[in-house]
Amino acid sequence: ADLEREKLIEAHELTAKLYNYLLKNTTHGQQAMAYLRNRGVTDKQIDHFNIGYAPREWDTLVRFLDQRKFDLALMEKGGLIIAKNDGSGYVDRFRERIMFPLWSREGKTIALAGRLMGEGQPKYLNSPETRLFNKSRNLYNFHHARVDMRKHRRVVLFEGYMDVIKAWSAGVNNGVASMGTSLTEEHAALLQRNVDEAIICYDGDNAGMAAALKTIPLLEKTGLKVQVAVLPQGMDPDEYIEKHGANAFMREMIEHPVSATKFKLIYAKKNHILLEEEGRKDYLLEAAGIIAALDSPIEREIYLKDLSREFDIPIEVLKQDVFHHREKSY
Ligand code: GTP
Ligand code: MN
Ligand code: MN
Ligand code: MN
Ligand code: MN
Repeated sequence: ADLEREKLIEAHELTAKLYNYLLKNTTHGQQAMAYLRNRGVTDKQIDHFNIGYAPREWDTLVRFLDQRKFDLALMEKGGLIIAKNDGSGYVDRFRERIMFPLWSREGKTIALAGRLMGEGQPKYLNSPETRLFNKSRNLYNFHHARVDMRKHRRVVLFEGYMDVIKAWSAGVNNGVASMGTSLTEEHAALLQRNVDEAIICYDGDNAGMAAALKTIPLLEKTGLKVQVAVLPQGMDPDEYIEKHGANAFMREMIEHPVSATKFKLIYAKKNHILLEEEGRKDYLLEAAGIIAALDSPIEREIYLKDLSREFDIPIEVLKQDVFHHREKSY
């Protein structure tokens, strides 16, 4: 059984190498290369992340693996190829896609993700869950990021592969991403063993903010200090870096995250119309609830002071509301 595991890893390593070769050295790879160039992906990124190209043909990988005497039934179990319905053989799982190898904690290639070069569904196709690859335990780029994570006791969490890749060139050596799932408790536990702090740097859209809101308590529960880099509305880190540059991304986003509480307040505020009295009142009540959840009186005082100034409401009044919230929760 462990021989199977080794064979599958060997096949994944070779497949990633093949796709990278096809991207860089074939005429078919040129349109994929053009796609990547157009998105600002550099040769350095292609090499470091071993980015590749899965060609259009039905059986490029099937033939490649067969020639190298890999057991195709095993390759099918490993998710690299798919059995034809009529039982007459196999076809490649990934075709006509930009390929991102996914690595184990030890840096072995254990799965792949492929992105369409245009519109369509699914935008990203991942390897299925196999005995090598469990997406609720694996984080993209973990093995690269681990060194820096342990050194600075900090991790930066992204939503997407491309965010991790672009941020790496901007100087974020401790960036990881979950792979098409929200962050799980297993992810959080893995991170907690390596860092003391996490910066959530998700997409600046509703989905990203909602995901950040869900991720905060998951990480805090493990004892991590959590901060959030708040991207401009509608922008993800990749787009931010393309538009404003690497330096701006580091200075404005990564080096200036807000506290988890501040982020919750920002999120709550977005959902209320502050120009209307009703909206203002609802926001203040929600804000009082958020602040009431803080255990430290000093922290509560700081946020209440801000709120009091912003809405011109005496801090003592806000405190009464917070006091009621805290009473209720005991
Ligand atoms: P680009 O459009 O290439 O920049 O990707 P993105 O990372 O910005 O995509 P998006 O913000 O839509 O999604 C974030 C992450 O969710 C991706 O990097 C993938 O890991 C995952 N994801 C997105 N779309 C799909 C999909 O169709 N299938 C799966 N399995 N995962 C997806
Ligand atoms: Mn998104
Ligand atoms: Mn995105
Ligand atoms: Mn993107
Ligand atoms: Mn509300």
